[in-house]
Amino acid sequence: MIDRINDLLKRVEEFSPKAAAEIEEFRIKILGKKGELNALMEEFKTVAPERKREIGQRINALKVAAQERINALKAAAQQAAENSAATVGDMTRPGSEEPLGTRHPISLVRNQIVEIFSRMGYTVAEGPEIEDDWHVFSALNFPPEHPARDMQDTFFIEKNPDILLRTHTSSIQVRAMERSKPPIRIVCPGRVFRNEAISYRAHCIFHQVEGLYIDEGVSFADLKQSLLYFAKEMFGENASIRLRPSYFPFTEPSAEMDVSCNLCGGKGCNVCKGTGWLEIMGCGMVDPNVLEANGIDSKKYSGFAFGMGVERIAMLKYGVKDLRLYFENDVRFLRQFESVL
Ligand code: PHE
Repeated sequence: MIDRINDLLKRVEEFSPKAAAEIEEFRIKILGKKGELNALMEEFKTVAPERKREIGQRINALKVAAQERINALKAAAQQAAENSAATVGDMTRPGSEEPLGTRHPISLVRNQIVEIFSRMGYTVAEGPEIEDDWHVFSALNFPPEHPARDMQDTFFIEKNPDILLRTHTSSIQVRAMERSKPPIRIVCPGRVFRNEAISYRAHCIFHQVEGLYIDEGVSFADLKQSLLYFAKEMFGENASIRLRPSYFPFTEPSAEMDVSCNLCGGKGCNVCKGTGWLEIMGCGMVDPNVLEANGIDSKKYSGFAFGMGVERIAMLKYGVKDLRLYFENDVRFLRQFESVL
């Protein structure tokens, strides 16, 4: 009998289940009512009285060992099941939300400007930021002594021949005139560079959207109507515009365009400095010299051009008082601009 007890003890110690279900099967087989341990107990009744003490102790030890082994195996199986559930995760849980970024206000406003003009049939043209003198100045009728050609106003990369950072995106318009014949109807968004001290209202890098429309019979009335449409789309149905005579080398006549102040509705406030008007862009009829310099017959064709600073429009639209905020990339500022555009 002792051999059978030892044999069972060995099987208990060596038992290593492959699946959790085998543990319960094993328990029933050993410790169950009709299990092997009870069979031994049954047999124990027939053991001679002088051996009862020794065999009884051995059976007891076997029982305790079997119980402990089974409990330990069950606990290990449960832990393993919990661990694997944790790696797979609860597939029925709702997904966690991915925080979405926001667009930069300059991108938002540029997209909006481009979108308004694209509704009027304009397409987008782009060009290099590093330019030569011809595309930025000479082809646009800048006289040789013009102050923009001075180091104080323009970042030069090389002198003679001049290579420089474009000071306006009008250079893209020159490239468009070189490339294609009228009708030309383009908007030119892009980054521009001017040698200016950085302050709340000026930066050496900023963004422009300029536009050019050349065809037969384009008049100043077309310019005015197109820009009025733009102002109403940008600042609301009640916006009105006014044009003040101005000067640019590449347009004649030239004008500055003001839009009625959208903050005070034209009554006068500190943003519009009490005038009720905000200056938002330069514009004019393309100077015939510019058309001729770019191989376009100025007797047959005429056109208008305009250009605006994106930072300035964004400041007016969102009430931003310091231009430097656009360049600092402080998320507390940027997060405030949410849009699908
Ligand atoms: N190029 C001018 C500027 O940078 C803007 C402008 C464009 C004015 C077209 C008139 C016509 O200030």
